[in-house]
Amino acid sequence: RPQLLIDTDPGVDDALAILMAHAHADIAGLSIAAGNVGLGHTVRNARTLVDLLGVDTPVFAGCATALVRTPEEDAAFVHGQDGFGDIGFPEPVAPLSGEPAALALLRLTRERPGALTLVALGPLTNLALALRLDPTLPQRVARLVVMGGAVTGHGNTGKVPAEFNVGFDPEAAHIVFGAFASFDLIDWEATLRHAFSDAEFDAWLAAGDRRADFFGQIVGAARGYNAKHDRSGVIAADALAMAVALDPGIVTRSETRAVAVELDGRLTRGATVVDWAARLGQPAQANIVLEVDQVRFAAMVRLALGVDG
Ligand code: BDR
Ligand code: CA
Repeated sequence: RPQLLIDTDPGVDDALAILMAHAHADIAGLSIAAGNVGLGHTVRNARTLVDLLGVDTPVFAGCATALVRTPEEDAAFVHGQDGFGDIGFPEPVAPLSGEPAALALLRLTRERPGALTLVALGPLTNLALALRLDPTLPQRVARLVVMGGAVTGHGNTGKVPAEFNVGFDPEAAHIVFGAFASFDLIDWEATLRHAFSDAEFDAWLAAGDRRADFFGQIVGAARGYNAKHDRSGVIAADALAMAVALDPGIVTRSETRAVAVELDGRLTRGATVVDWAARLGQPAQANIVLEVDQVRFAAMVRLALGVDG
């Protein structure tokens, strides 16, 4: 089984990704970012998931805001004010480690050099801070898989053609994209091509176990939001990234290109710049995942919801 270190801002689709990780891999730790909602909520939501799964996965709190500029928006309008659909879950009992996320990322990768796949499902603030503390971090991870970016500019943030995770903390993404010689990038547009239909997802929610009950509750707000915006189905960006992290063989089409982050643009701060025509003279470091095998992706999600198990 793969060994994962997950940096995440739960978040509805983060939750599905973590359920998938639990079903298919060993989770060394959850390092928590601010993003979809504030850090207090994302930490609490991670602990709620640890309770649900009945595991002792350590949870590490990370940075409460972006590295340089305070982000203009969160994603509470999609994920609910508490990030988990405003269901009102009880206070979790799973402990919060006292170790800051960036330090935990460094320690765990030192303890298991070369063994861990780093999966980044939120703004890249914690990872960037860890890289500033120790630039040798990339040498100690087996792989990095990032959910982020909008490679042809169809973003999902308010005012710029940016994707949320990169747009929330562009400087952090700039640091991470510059530090790793190679990583898998699952962007927002790939996510839209791999949404699940309402009918298939409802069938899984009905047939699954208590993980499906839980996910069915928290996903309600996001589905309502999508429906209001003419998007049907369940869009699960982080779940798609997790599928690639768990099984790289699921990828059926990808392109390796240099990817940079716009930090100053008048219209484009936080946008990902993909050097499709190799004009920038930078090494092509990002394996941009364009298509995966949807049948295998669906099977991974079903198992995570307890449908086929
Ligand atoms: C990303 O932003 C968040 O809202 C999701 O959890 C995902 O990580 C999609 O742009
Ligand atoms: Ca996320």
